[in-house]
Amino acid sequence: MGLINLLRLRRPKGMHIHLRQDDLLKLVVMFSNIYGWVLDIGNLLIPIKSPEQVRRRREEIEANNISFKFLLSVMLTEDMMPDLLEECHEAGADVLKYQPFGTTTNSQFGVRLEKLREKYDVLERALELRMIFTGHWELPYNPLTGKDIPLPLREELSIPYLSDVIDYFPGLTIGVEHISGRPMLQFVQQAPLNVFGGITAHHMGCTRADMRDQGSFNPHYSCRPVLKDFEDCLALMTAVSAEDNDNLIFTPDCAPHLKERKETMSDPPVGIFAPGHIGIPLIIQGLENVGLPIRETALNNFFSYNAERIYSLPPADDEIVLVREPCIVPAEYNGIVPLWAGRQLNWQMKEY
Ligand code: NCD
Ligand code: ZN
Repeated sequence: MGLINLLRLRRPKGMHIHLRQDDLLKLVVMFSNIYGWVLDIGNLLIPIKSPEQVRRRREEIEANNISFKFLLSVMLTEDMMPDLLEECHEAGADVLKYQPFGTTTNSQFGVRLEKLREKYDVLERALELRMIFTGHWELPYNPLTGKDIPLPLREELSIPYLSDVIDYFPGLTIGVEHISGRPMLQFVQQAPLNVFGGITAHHMGCTRADMRDQGSFNPHYSCRPVLKDFEDCLALMTAVSAEDNDNLIFTPDCAPHLKERKETMSDPPVGIFAPGHIGIPLIIQGLENVGLPIRETALNNFFSYNAERIYSLPPADDEIVLVREPCIVPAEYNGIVPLWAGRQLNWQMKEY
């Protein structure tokens, strides 16, 4: 097959975006208008966990110039109860999002993974309400000793807890956000049909080597789960480009933090600003670089159809166009350093 220079894809879905608040909200919204649908993650400074917050969040997002439609999430915090979840659902939240305590940005309000069973009544209600339960699966501390678990092992060590949820709730749609390594990928690929996995551009296209810049730590590639090895990227890319990628979706995890905070804090916040016009070309170029096929069917499943099916969204009726045209990613946008800053992309999004 010859080299393709133009790619038409159905308008993608961004089913894991931190739209944030205030100035950051404006910025993320602007860069999210390439998506047909967005799932907003409610891990704000004060997590979204009440019907009032859900209603306010809808207004906050709609006050911007948005061309996407969106779903709202509520956070599984210590004080989330079945009836409260139901009220949040009535107020417009379709997704119950889980960030275990100690794993990531603003997860200090999350239930500890080893205590998740205490919240199974909330998951039960999510099932009754046909809400989607989607989680950040990492075990940050050894539950026996309380000691930190090394970052590269955290995702894999969360699998028994995820497995317990899956066994307990065969009817619940369960998401595994931002799969980063081979053990979790294999687990999701072998899981029952009610389980789906999300994958980001950075977990496919970057490795832990990117977290080092001339020997020193580069906070702009620091996220959770932490970036892994080339073999992990290759496994993720192979899974995405395969025809049977039915339970995998694109979860951009666009998670900006101010450059200043990233560069000056002793323990900088985790999260990568990964807008779609960078992430999507990076994925295409990654597939090409490792010699995997660029199949429109597989890509449309991954970026669009699978999310439509899993999240019961109406079908997209328009497209985006990518052309082979090299460009350099800007060093920053409004004080935020994006994914792949200063590096070359071989593809650009044209009509969107
Ligand atoms: C995200 C953020 O900054 O909100 N950070 C990250 O490293 N991915 C939170 C999350 O999705 O885990
Ligand atoms: Zn995220």
